[in-house]
Amino acid sequence: MGDYTNMSYYYDVIMTSGYYDYEKIVDSLLNGQTGQRVLEIGCGTGLILEELAKRQSQSSIAGIDLTQAMLNIAQERLKPFGNVSLSQQNVCSLDLPQQQDLAFSYGGVWYFVVDGDKEPFMVSHIPDHEANQLGLARVAQYIAKGGTLLLGIQGPHHDYAKPIANGMVYSQKIEPSAHGFTKHYFLNDGDTRLMAQTIDYRTYSFAQALEMMGVNGIEYAPQENRGHLFLGFKKT
Ligand SMILES: C[S@@+](CC[C@H](N)C(=O)[O-])C[C@H]1O[C@@H](n2cnc3c(N)ncnc32)[C@H](O)[C@@H]1O
Repeated sequence: MGDYTNMSYYYDVIMTSGYYDYEKIVDSLLNGQTGQRVLEIGCGTGLILEELAKRQSQSSIAGIDLTQAMLNIAQERLKPFGNVSLSQQNVCSLDLPQQQDLAFSYGGVWYFVVDGDKEPFMVSHIPDHEANQLGLARVAQYIAKGGTLLLGIQGPHHDYAKPIANGMVYSQKIEPSAHGFTKHYFLNDGDTRLMAQTIDYRTYSFAQALEMMGVNGIEYAPQENRGHLFLGFKKT
């Protein structure tokens, strides 16, 4: 489920070649707030947490991720920041020393796809339904009453190939599956395939996602939406 080991070595170069804009992500995450307990679910190589830690020395910042190879890179990147703690964890058995004021995931375990006026749907890196229920329950348990959950927004996925910063070519291919879709990621240097990774995603309608969160006391809070980057939820 959602293992990124194959991609880990090339992840940063792909992502910082225009896939995500980390400064903008952190601008909208913070929304003028400071000094909170913050958790990133699926922090990967720590690109968001680094930007966050640079601006938020007063916050207590935690990151969890399933893939040790991704966390190894995050560990190195975040060494200078004493207020960041990282741990290898599957969100389905999330275990933290304290509750959080803000939990977020961007391209991490869960995100929403927004495609024009169509209803958003939720995408999960976890293919099994019961495991999704467990994971959302664990997350809810670690958000303080009145705290916020922000889940990232992405555009519709499509097949494409494009050169990245170092001239290598990143490509992706999407195939529908019974419970969502399968996404194949590739990186090629000329004719040489450097990386191939496949993730089996589960999708949920907006109503299903709200229901799964609602049973855990997490309610959709459109006033917390952060532009086109995050949908906002509140722990009641
Ligand atoms: C596309 S990366 C996003 C990383 C980071 N948020 C960023 O924006 O660069 C998705 C991450 O989610 C992690 N992940 C997938 N399933 C997970 C799970 N069940 N529990 C914790 N992390 C998971 C993967 O290991 C991967 O590092």
